[in-house]
Amino acid sequence: MINAPSLANCNCLSFGQDVKELIEGGASFFHIDLMDGHYVPNLCMPLNYVKDIKSQYPEVTADVHIMVSNPMDYIGRLKQAGADYVAFHIDSTNFVRRTLNAIREAGMKAGVVINPSQRIDLIEPYISLLDYVVLMTVEPGYAGQRFLEGGLERIQELNGLRSKYKAEFLIEIDGGVDYAYAMPCKEMGADILVTGIYMIFNQDDGIVEACRRFDRCLNGV
Ligand code: DX5
Ligand code: ZN
Repeated sequence: MINAPSLANCNCLSFGQDVKELIEGGASFFHIDLMDGHYVPNLCMPLNYVKDIKSQYPEVTADVHIMVSNPMDYIGRLKQAGADYVAFHIDSTNFVRRTLNAIREAGMKAGVVINPSQRIDLIEPYISLLDYVVLMTVEPGYAGQRFLEGGLERIQELNGLRSKYKAEFLIEIDGGVDYAYAMPCKEMGADILVTGIYMIFNQDDGIVEACRRFDRCLNGV
């Protein structure tokens, strides 16, 4: 199970130190939320966060979740900034296939994001183009919400589609993941868990220990 700490939960005044501690704790797959204030009613992290992190820690995988109205406009700059994975919301463009192709042609892994109110089978026409699918288990736009009821069944449904088409896309779960949900998510077929305030940040024993606990509990190491 990949631990994908969501950097939107870092303290802005100690951002560099938080990143350092995540790495010391063994995290190497960072979930970076980008919000444009249009697709979601919130703003989050300009692209230079990706650039600064990648220039100091090139070994880290930058998984960028773009909550924007025109995903195509960001692809070139995401590539330049050093993004490795890019996922956009499936309803944020009329040209899902074109956008997935553009991300892949730029040499990045491509994914779509499904909101809690959307059907899982929306991905069916694009399955062969997907490196990963991000399944939201909260409404996008704000960190710190609770995992929505029905999320586990939706992971199971997505996993079922993956088997039906013999596809290999990774399943990433984003929103409100805590220890009560983490193991069931794994059992339903999740590969990547976005971790925020419930598992990594705001913990009494600090970020390094929280990352190690994730590996002990979910990877048995
Ligand atoms: C919500 C974001 C999430 C969020 C996850 O719009 O996409 O990545 O930061 O962190 P938690 O689980 O703490 O809300
Ligand atoms: Zn996210």
